[in-house]
Amino acid sequence: MAEIFMEDVTKTFSVNGVLLSVLDGVTVQVEEGEFVSLIGPSGCGKSTLFNIICGLTTPDRGRVLLGGHDNVPAGEVVSYMPQKDLLLPWRTVLDNVILARRAVGRERAAVQSEARELMPLFGLTGFENSYPAELSGGMRQRAALMRTVLARQRVLLLDEPLGALDAITRTRMQQWLLKVWNNFKQAVFFVTHDIDEAIFLSDRVYVLTSRPAKVCLHLSVSLPRPRRAKLVTAPSFLALKKEIMRALQVQ
Ligand SMILES: Nc1ncnc2c1ncn2[C@@H]1O[C@H](COP(=O)(O)OP(=O)(O)OP(=O)(O)O)[C@@H](O)[C@H]1O
Ligand SMILES: [Mg+2]
Repeated sequence: MAEIFMEDVTKTFSVNGVLLSVLDGVTVQVEEGEFVSLIGPSGCGKSTLFNIICGLTTPDRGRVLLGGHDNVPAGEVVSYMPQKDLLLPWRTVLDNVILARRAVGRERAAVQSEARELMPLFGLTGFENSYPAELSGGMRQRAALMRTVLARQRVLLLDEPLGALDAITRTRMQQWLLKVWNNFKQAVFFVTHDIDEAIFLSDRVYVLTSRPAKVCLHLSVSLPRPRRAKLVTAPSFLALKKEIMRALQVQ
């Protein structure tokens, strides 16, 4: 049974009386433990699609099943890292990363100690008591991701989590993200603009058209894991890249 099953979803916004058609019959799914990417032009409706999965936006047509059911609260299945990292500036790193667990009392102490143990994996050791303003961009993103992972839901929705990083840091973070994914075994639904990143990380990739978004390509990435940086120059990788570029009509 799919963790996320979104069928024929259509959404039109009304902005000052003007209709803006954003999603047009989008069908996507994410299976247990899978890494699936969503790629598409800026403004095509990727974040809207995530907001619909989370129940923050209501579709005009179509249905969304989470764990096979259509009326479960999204928070019981998915954990969402929105495009902006949304760390609370007045809370320390430790308090930010345990936020999604809503723990109190003794349980809070247990969650805190779990978070402390995970600090090395997230490269945040020594920064537990720092505030977000004292972190680099990459560290903020790792803290936001740690919060999303620590919520311990079956699916992580990550909306361009590596978007603000330079190319070198980003490549390192991709490797690291696969390590985290391997560790926690949660399914990941991942938005990116970067074709190499989508292929490198994923089991499957959905490519969307410009607005109103439709799925124009659905690709299985059967490259072996673990994936190493040099994979991006392999002919099998480049063939997939060409296919996605063709779908996005990038010359
Ligand atoms: N709540 C809203 N009300 C009205 N229009 C909206 C709303 N949310 C999104 N839009 C519009 O829907 C379109 C798609 O926005 P969305 O944020 O989903 O795109 P995106 O694919 O995530 O873009 P990007 O790659 O730049 O993040 C945009 O034109 C945006 O202005
Ligand atoms: Mg977006």
